[in-house]
Amino acid sequence: MKKTIAICFTNNKGGSGKSTVCANLGYELSKAGRRVLLIDGDMQMNLTLSYFDEERVLEMAESKRTIYEAVTEKKSIRDHIVHTPYDGLDMVPSSTLLSQIEFQLFTMMQREYVLKKCISDVKASGEYDYILIDAPPTLGNWVVNILCASDQVIMPVEASPWGLFGLANMFDFLDSLKEITDTRLRGVLITKVDERKNYYRQTREVLESYDDIPVFDTVIHVDSSIEWAEDSSVPVAVYKKSTRSAVEFQKLSKEIIRG
Ligand SMILES: Nc1ncnc2c1ncn2[C@@H]1O[C@H](COP(=O)(O)OP(=O)(O)OP(=O)(O)O)[C@@H](O)[C@H]1O
Ligand SMILES: [Mg+2]
Repeated sequence: MKKTIAICFTNNKGGSGKSTVCANLGYELSKAGRRVLLIDGDMQMNLTLSYFDEERVLEMAESKRTIYEAVTEKKSIRDHIVHTPYDGLDMVPSSTLLSQIEFQLFTMMQREYVLKKCISDVKASGEYDYILIDAPPTLGNWVVNILCASDQVIMPVEASPWGLFGLANMFDFLDSLKEITDTRLRGVLITKVDERKNYYRQTREVLESYDDIPVFDTVIHVDSSIEWAEDSSVPVAVYKKSTRSAVEFQKLSKEIIRG
């Protein structure tokens, strides 16, 4: 049986493209015939809203089918999985209640591994090829849970002067977790590349100055179709198949599948 690979998207810098990459990479992996489970680990619910309209999101929150209930009740995520409109692509949605998660985790035993345990039976069953977990732009106990539940980390970094700010801190944070988890940095993904500005080269140079930081060959350019697609709760490739970022997300999915 093939092993399920859990990949999370983290960077404590807000707006670096975590949710966008998670949503669209998930779609492309499912288009390539892989079975994918998305987990929205952010109270902003951007990943959930990438696939469902607000009415449906409220409905899911009311029926308590979100990651918050699974974690706080220490239950398997299995009963919290919903289908997206696309074949082979499922999701555990988020809820605004996730804003209380740090407080809830505080009193739990082995609090770094609560999420890991919640996903363990679904992961062990091998029914998904990939579990993709979107993280919020924070570095607290909840993000530690997300990292401990993941085999690999993808770190989207925006090609902008502030995109690099705090990056060394982020790498140190990942390093500090080596004692409690085997998760590894799969790669830094440069996002929001704008040809009219010079920041792409600068960003790649800074990243390559680190010895042991893998950087994806694929980059994601600035593409206004992304916002239009998000506004309609569809992946960018569904909104406009040939748009630049859709082609790039497909290329990224091939990099991931190659392993
Ligand atoms: N390649 C892109 N081109 C144009 N807009 C983009 C691109 N990637 C992301 N965006 C836009 O930038 C904003 C931030 O992206 P996103 O929500 O994916 O970042 P994030 O890292 O998940 O943010 P947060 O830290 O708040 O969770 C969104 O409005 C999104 O539509
Ligand atoms: Mg996000």
